[in-house]
Amino acid sequence: MSDNFYITTPIYYVNDKPHLGHAYTTIAADVITRWHRLNGRPAYFLTGTDEHGQKVFEAATKRGLTPTQHVDELCEPFKALWARLDIQNDDFIRTTEPRHTKVVQDVLQNLFDKGDIYTADYEGWYSTSAERFWTEKDLVDGKCPDTGTQVEWIKEKNYFFRMSKYADQLRDYIDANPDFLRPVSRKNEVLGYLKKEVGDLCISRPKSRLPWGIPFPMDTDYVTYVWFDALLNYISAIGYHPSGSKDTFNRWWPASYHLVGKDILTTHSVYWSTMLFAMGLRPAECLYAHGWWTIEGNKMSKSIGNVVDPHLLIDCYGSDAVRYFLMREILFGADGDFSHLGFMTRYNADLANDLGNLAHRALSMTSKWLGGAVPALDPNTAADDALQRVADEAVDGFRSNIEGMQISTALESLWSLVQAGNKYIDDMEPWKLNREGDLARLAGVMRRCLEICRVAAVLLSPVAPNKGKELGEKLGLTALDVDSVQSLDRLVQGSSVEAGEPLFPRMAELPERIQSALAGALPEKAEEAAAKADAKKQKQEAPVAEEAEQSNPFIQFEDFLKVQLKVGEIVEADKHPNADRLLALKVEVGEERPRSIVAGIAAKYAPDDLVGKKIVIVANLKPRKLRGVMSEGMLLAATGSELEGLVTVDSGVNFGSTVG
Ligand code: MSP
Repeated sequence: MSDNFYITTPIYYVNDKPHLGHAYTTIAADVITRWHRLNGRPAYFLTGTDEHGQKVFEAATKRGLTPTQHVDELCEPFKALWARLDIQNDDFIRTTEPRHTKVVQDVLQNLFDKGDIYTADYEGWYSTSAERFWTEKDLVDGKCPDTGTQVEWIKEKNYFFRMSKYADQLRDYIDANPDFLRPVSRKNEVLGYLKKEVGDLCISRPKSRLPWGIPFPMDTDYVTYVWFDALLNYISAIGYHPSGSKDTFNRWWPASYHLVGKDILTTHSVYWSTMLFAMGLRPAECLYAHGWWTIEGNKMSKSIGNVVDPHLLIDCYGSDAVRYFLMREILFGADGDFSHLGFMTRYNADLANDLGNLAHRALSMTSKWLGGAVPALDPNTAADDALQRVADEAVDGFRSNIEGMQISTALESLWSLVQAGNKYIDDMEPWKLNREGDLARLAGVMRRCLEICRVAAVLLSPVAPNKGKELGEKLGLTALDVDSVQSLDRLVQGSSVEAGEPLFPRMAELPERIQSALAGALPEKAEEAAAKADAKKQKQEAPVAEEAEQSNPFIQFEDFLKVQLKVGEIVEADKHPNADRLLALKVEVGEERPRSIVAGIAAKYAPDDLVGKKIVIVANLKPRKLRGVMSEGMLLAATGSELEGLVTVDSGVNFGSTVG
């Protein structure tokens, strides 16, 4: 691993305004970059806009503008959204800038001179909307398989990149670099693609059909295929030129991460890697393909009218809450659903309740009873030692997960400490200590709580930079020091703390603007959301009735929520080395690596029958060794007097999804 960290997002098409999907990747890149900067690692973060190609040309034509007018206007909303989301990108590249077009043209010329680009006549079914040729057998009902639109038979001269020449090199590269394609399921997808013969790539478009693109240097009748142009942004932005000095470029290349959505995995893994091989360069260390957000259960689409405008969320909840929600809600790699009710519920549960309460309790009790000054430590109690152990685990978990791009799991680790802090307050009952006049112990308890808030402020800061800073200021810190998170005794005794306003005010109901947006877009969904919100409110208002229920055999809903059920895909299955009854499985749940799970199902299933099955696991069971093999979860199965079968899910359900 190079000491320098370089991360990229896809460059976004300027055919429309930025939406939640765009914000998602950009926030993830920002979080990880901020984390590395916090740790003193030199980091470079690139994003930008993809301004050529058919889609952009059509969008401009529709608006009655020249492509140049259109792209100059529409790259601005991206920049503005990144500013509002506190994105600290080092550069914003536009593919119409001369610093990029020049590199594309020189790379084309160079590869042409080398013989890696050639001309040939090409015949095939061309889809204007998908901007590509298809073979007869690709078509669905005679139409484009991607867009469902008409195709036309076209025969024309074109320029081709000898992608086939580098296919074996790519296969070898993937074998030799197991972390190159992540998550593992996506690597398998690419390997599947590479099992077929890889053809050459048509990289030109006749100007007569598409006048908008980077002109071909060796033939003015053609422009460059948009993907060949766009992919080069990752190196043109950091100073690459085929015959120029490589000093600045080598500082950052190879990139540490290309973050991409799962829909653009092939272009990045196959087109881009082979292009790099042809240029004599190595690919990025990791190409990470994340999942897609659906909105209230539906695909996000303009025609349904459910495209989520990140500005609306920022207006209602603030940038930090939006960043936190998107990073926490789904595992990076898995698909997930965005719902406004889900947003508000998580906002209230995690930010207003867990973190907000901890901070408020710690700061206001210190202010009220201890003069608002950081009190002295009380190092000699077992409860405090236990808390330090929770903190150690939380910090380690946070660090290792965030560095592997598992931001959601990292936050889960941090929250285990925040929740332990709240429980510690409940157990220690500082109000009683105050009443009884045990001020030394009260001081010790409050000190630990303030220290947990400090660790939370530091670790939260890459995800929620403003709130991290605000919490730090309440604690009297002038800077957030990541080295200090190792210990719960780093505050300066006697320095002032201040409770002030709550960090995240609780939302009693969906903000009005969101209610009207929902009502406008999906009337039935809005009603559903309002009904659910009502039910929740009633529940909160009826604690007496709930307590009465405790004497019957039912469990509370909250108890059920403690069990985390997730969909997993079995990716490996073997006999257990020490027990005939058991199988040792590897189950992909969209985390850093598949989970190792030992299951007593050998009587019913042969290992080979299991690979590919989607099952349900209990994901938050404490890991333990079963006959010498670590098991990090439990499979759900139907059992009578003996095992009847595994609980499985529909084939369309993605691993990593939450069950409940
Ligand atoms: N311009 C190309 C990328 C070229 S990179 C050299 C492109 N642009 S895009 O604007 O259409 O999409 C950009 C990214 O947004 C993709 O990674 C895509 O996966 C992501 N998303 C679009 N809709 C999304 C969701 N609903 N959810 C999550 N990400 C989504 O493709």
